Amino acid sequence: MNIAVVGGGTRCKRLIEVTERHTFEEIDPRVVAVADIKENAPGLIKAKSKGLFVTRDYNDFFSRQDIDLIIELTGDMDIYNDILEKKKKHVRAISDATAQLFYEIARISALQKKTDQELQETRARYKAIINELIQEDVMVIAYDYRVMDINDSLLNKLGLQRRDVIGRHCYEITHRQSQPCSGKDHPCPLVKTLKTEKSSRTTHTHLDKDNKKIIYSISTYPMIENGDVIGAIEISRDITGDINMQKAMMQQEKLASIGRLSAGVAHEINNPLTTILTTAMLIQEDLDPEDPNFEELETITNETLRCRKIVTSLLDFARQSRPVKKENDINGVIKECLVLTKKQAAFKGLSLTAELADNIPLLYIDKGQIQQAIINLILNAIEATEAGGSISIGTDYNRHRRLVDVEISDTGRGIREDDLGKIFDPFFTTKDSGNGLGLAITHGIIEQHDATINVFSKPGRGTTFTIKFGLPPGENNDS
Ligand SMILES: Nc1ncnc2c1ncn2[C@@H]1O[C@H](COP(=O)(O)OP(=O)(O)OP(=O)(O)O)[C@@H](O)[C@H]1O
Ligand SMILES: [Mg+2]
Repeated sequence: MNIAVVGGGTRCKRLIEVTERHTFEEIDPRVVAVADIKENAPGLIKAKSKGLFVTRDYNDFFSRQDIDLIIELTGDMDIYNDILEKKKKHVRAISDATAQLFYEIARISALQKKTDQELQETRARYKAIINELIQEDVMVIAYDYRVMDINDSLLNKLGLQRRDVIGRHCYEITHRQSQPCSGKDHPCPLVKTLKTEKSSRTTHTHLDKDNKKIIYSISTYPMIENGDVIGAIEISRDITGDINMQKAMMQQEKLASIGRLSAGVAHEINNPLTTILTTAMLIQEDLDPEDPNFEELETITNETLRCRKIVTSLLDFARQSRPVKKENDINGVIKECLVLTKKQAAFKGLSLTAELADNIPLLYIDKGQIQQAIINLILNAIEATEAGGSISIGTDYNRHRRLVDVEISDTGRGIREDDLGKIFDPFFTTKDSGNGLGLAITHGIIEQHDATINVFSKPGRGTTFTIKFGLPPGENNDS
């Protein structure tokens, strides 16, 4: 439907904009001509910029063939009557008052529609976007936080059915809370988008179906209908892997720099220590064991030997010794570790058992280093477990993923959540007599073997360390 407007004021301008922006299903209204005697009338300027027909005299409309409706917006009844008289029969005309009335009715019905039919239309439109964005986790959330739609990717992560989610509040679904979760320390991009009508972004930690934390980067985009925000599309990307990778890289960097520093210091200390040790031993040789200084020299020797042990650990940690890798039977390596540690376990009244799978392929490893890594883990387990507790070592081969797992579990005191991120740091220890180097060395060794080490622990409920060795793809080295 082609419309000619008499009166190029702001309402005329708005009419041009509305008909431009929105598609109306049945009638397709379009302003094609505007008349105003004022050159600077905003509607006239808008029409001109759009290349529409503009004139000072509305009489020009009557000779045009393309006009279906004339809207009189000046409010002057004489002009309206003049139009009614002069217009062709098939052309309709409405006065300013009628136009106002229509405008009001349209506005009210648009408001009502928003809750049902328009919402349906919006849903359909956004559903297409959701399906396109199937890789990401997507929810469509209404202004009252109720979930209007959700995609399969997110449903799978949450372990929920669509019917369990639609109509419920987003904070119930992703945060398991009964109230909106937005707060000073936990800003919600949805709240911001609803307020500012602009897109927003933040990082949130959500819980998956196993209560495991997933770190999400969340972006929200406003859904605007008739100039009002009726809700938002929330697109979440699981960045847990990226964050963990970043942390691992930082850890690696930190270890590398401490390693370089330690190597330098250890070398410097080693020589004077050797001098102290040999001098003490030489003096001791000349003394009678009954001499009161004999025992003092014994203390000097023992303490110096202890320092040497720490320096050796530091050098190990600094990866002075490159691994010499050969094909080795990891079960055999573990059995030797058990022989070396069973006395300490028995002394504390702990059971130390192994459950070793018999299908483990040979691994390309430095036997001595891996033994050291595993012994460090067993010693820690022994130190953390009270009499009556147990320590077990298991091996497992995942043929499909070509991974060999070595698992060391204990029923000991466990590790505090705050400490979990620090235990691999050199010199981090919670023990009075600890150096805090055992796990740092283990970590370095495991890394040199392109393997990974992970820890799972709950205070009071024990600890499990898992080492995963990858096998080269395709090679059939199954034993
Ligand atoms: N199995 C475990 N159970 C509980 N806590 C553990 C366990 N393994 C390690 N930890 C914690 O991690 C810290 C660091 O361990 P790490 O082996 O690096 O140093 P350490 O045992 O304290 O000293 P070092 O091994 O140098 O003698 C420990 O002090 C302890 O708090
Ligand atoms: Mg230790």
